[in-house]
Amino acid sequence: MDIAVVILAAGEGTRMKSDLPKVLHPLGGRPMLEYSLETARAMTEAPPVLIVGHGAESVTEAAGDDVVSITQSPPLGTGHAVLQARDFLKNRAELVLVCYADMPLLTGETLDRLVERQRERPGPMTLLTLMRDESRGFGRIIRDEDGSVVEIVEEAVATPEELAVRELNAGVYCFEAGWLWDHVGEIPLSLPKEEYYLTDLVEMAAAEGREVQAVVTENEDETLGINTRVHLAEAEGVLRGRINEEWMNAGVTLIDPATTYIHPGVTIGRDTVIQPGTHLLGATTIGRRCTIGPNAMIEDCTIADECAVVASVLEHAVLERGSDVGPFSHLRRGARLCEDAHVGNFGELKNATLGPGAKMGHFSYLGDAQVGAEANVGAGTVTCNYDGQRKHVTAIEEGAFIGSDTMLVAPVRVGRRARTGAGAVVTHDVPDGALVYGVPARVQGEVEEDDDDQGQT
Ligand code: UD1
Ligand code: CA
Repeated sequence: MDIAVVILAAGEGTRMKSDLPKVLHPLGGRPMLEYSLETARAMTEAPPVLIVGHGAESVTEAAGDDVVSITQSPPLGTGHAVLQARDFLKNRAELVLVCYADMPLLTGETLDRLVERQRERPGPMTLLTLMRDESRGFGRIIRDEDGSVVEIVEEAVATPEELAVRELNAGVYCFEAGWLWDHVGEIPLSLPKEEYYLTDLVEMAAAEGREVQAVVTENEDETLGINTRVHLAEAEGVLRGRINEEWMNAGVTLIDPATTYIHPGVTIGRDTVIQPGTHLLGATTIGRRCTIGPNAMIEDCTIADECAVVASVLEHAVLERGSDVGPFSHLRRGARLCEDAHVGNFGELKNATLGPGAKMGHFSYLGDAQVGAEANVGAGTVTCNYDGQRKHVTAIEEGAFIGSDTMLVAPVRVGRRARTGAGAVVTHDVPDGALVYGVPARVQGEVEEDDDDQGQT
C-alpha cells in the first residue's frame, strides 16, 4: 500500500455547545464523520486511521469496523494528533494524507491533486491552501521572495503584517511518510495554548532547506471547517447545492433547488420533475418520468417510473410503476402500491399492499392488509387491525368493493368481487361475490355482475 489517510477527530468541538461529539452531527442526514471516511476510502485501499479523543467511544463506534481508531488523550494539538498514528503507520505507506473529520466537504479530486503534486515534486510535504479575505481563524501561509512556502503562522500569534496575508492554510497535507515520522515527534511545544502544531513542520522543512509544495484550491467551499452550528448549516447548504446540481445535470428537473432537499445516496431517474418543498431522504430511489412534490417527504422508499407523489409523507414504502399518492397521505413502513394503484387524500397505509389498479381515494386506514387488484376501498374505510394486544391481518380480494365507512375488524377476509355496504362493520369473513352490510355486517345477497364500477371512487 502506498497511501494512508489520517483523519483528525479528537478535538473537543466546544463551540457546537452539544452533548453529541461534533463529528457525529448529521450533515445531509448522515454523521459528518462519514464524508471524510468516504473520501479517504476512495483514495486508498488502506483503512482510514482516525484519531479520536473527545467522545472517543461513540466516534469509534460510528466509524465502523474497517477504520483504525487511535485515541489521543489528552489532545495536545494537531501535531500531537498525527504523532499518535506513527506506530501503526510507520513503514506501511509511502505517502500520508492528513485531513480533518470536521471538514466534510473536501473532495477526493483535491486530495488527488495534492498527491499528484507530491509525486511530481517529491519533498517533505505538499499542503492545501486557499485564497480568502475572511480568515475564519485559519493559519497564514508565509512565502519567501521566491514564492516558496516557509512557514505557517497561526492567527493568534500573527503580526499585523502576517494577518494581512490572504493565503490560508486549509489544514490538509500530503506528507512523504519517512520524513513525517522522523519529524512529527520533534515538533516543539507552542505557547500560549501549549500544543504541538502540525503546521510547525513547514518551518522545520524550510530550516532543512527542503522545499514545501502548496496546491491552491479552486473551490474554497470544500475547506469549510465546522466549528459551530452556523458553519454546519452553511455546509448543509453547500452540500445541497452540489447534490441538486448533480441531479439537474443528470436530467432531473428541480423547479426550485432552494427548497429541494436531497440526501446523498438518493437516486433519481431522468425526466423526473421535483416540485418545491420536497425532501428525498435516506436510501430513496426514484424512477424516470415521476412527479414528486410539491411538499413531499420521502425517506428510504423505492419508487418506480411514472409515479406521482403530491404533498405526502412516505417512509419505507414501495411504489410500483404508474402508482400515485396524495395530496396529504401517509405511507408508512411496509406500504406497497402495485402498478397503477392510487391513494388519494388522507390515506394511511402501514404494512399494507394495494394491488395493481386498486384505489383508495379518501381518508382511510389500511394496516396489516393485502388488497387485491382493481379493488376499491371506499371513503372512511378502516382496518381495525389492533385488538389492544395483537395486530391482525385483513385481506381484501381482487375486485372487491368496500363501501364508505366500512370497519374491517381483523382478522378478516373480504372475498373476490364481494361488496360491503356503507357503514358496515365486518367481523366475519365475506365470501366471494357476497354483498354484506349492517352492524355487524351480514350476508344480504350476491353482487350482480358489472356492479363493481359504481359508487364512490
Ligand atoms: C488548524 C491549523 C491552521 C489551519 C486550520 C484549518 C494547526 C496548528 N493549525 O487550526 O493552520 O488553518 O486548522 O482548519 O494545525 N485535533 C485533534 N487533536 C488535537 C487538536 C485538534 O484531533 O489535539 C483535530 C480537531 O478535532 C480538528 C482538527 O484537528 O478536526 C483541527 O483542529 P483545530 O483545533 O480546529 O485547529 P485550528 O485551530 O482550526
Ligand atoms: Ca477548526
